[in-house]
Amino acid sequence: EYIKELRDISHLEKKLQKILGIQKVKLVNGVVAAGDLKAEIGRMASKFLQQEIENGDILAVTGGTTLAQIAAEMSYSTEAREVTVVPGRGGLGEDVEIQANTIAAKIAKKIGGTYHLLHIPDNIAEENIYYLTKEPSIKKTLEILKQANILIHGVGTAKNMAKRRGMKKNEIKDLVEAGAVGEAFGFYFNSLGEIIYSTTSVGLNLDDLEATKKVIVVAGGEDKAEAIIAAVSSKYQDILITDEITARKIISLQ
Ligand code: F6P
Repeated sequence: EYIKELRDISHLEKKLQKILGIQKVKLVNGVVAAGDLKAEIGRMASKFLQQEIENGDILAVTGGTTLAQIAAEMSYSTEAREVTVVPGRGGLGEDVEIQANTIAAKIAKKIGGTYHLLHIPDNIAEENIYYLTKEPSIKKTLEILKQANILIHGVGTAKNMAKRRGMKKNEIKDLVEAGAVGEAFGFYFNSLGEIIYSTTSVGLNLDDLEATKKVIVVAGGEDKAEAIIAAVSSKYQDILITDEITARKIISLQ
């Protein structure tokens, strides 16, 4: 019975790989209670990350509750490692516990590496970005970030993310009416995977993802199925970590 289950899972993973056009899909096995989903995905992703990380790596991370779970599930390394962790973007308007800065620092501590942070105010005016990126500490982090060879990021539904970032009701309505279904990195995607809106912030752009060697996306929950389809493509990501229920939902939407 167990063998059959494993076979089913690997079949499902392959099917999803094909649909999304990405290299690898890893699925948390079985029916997981909604309340445990993030912890299960976090556990799987943290293990995977710990296996993948090598000395010399520069790891970029985004924020969110899923990424926070990954950081929480990681175990402390017994030795110091030459790994640098940086936030992928700054100033996205998240609570401090789930900010990319906080997660980068936590993961660096667990891995036994070092970190550089991006202290950027939320909702910064477009015209101030230029000056901000000339600030020595920000400039340094951005330079390191451009050299990141591994990136791990989350995906959210457009509606939830707009709400979480404090967008006004009518703005959220406009965004949804314009077709936004998914969000990653401050970019809002429609169901065709096109970017239709972006939050003003500093850090990686989607073009940078194409150059990053290994891009891991982590997201689960049936409600995120559409968002995952919108934000995940062979152009940007290499590996998706999610769960069986979400996988089946994505397949059903094809
Ligand atoms: O704001 C950072 C971010 O990574 C978003 O880009 C993404 O949509 C969201 O967090 C995911 O958050 P959660 O894991 O809490 O759903």
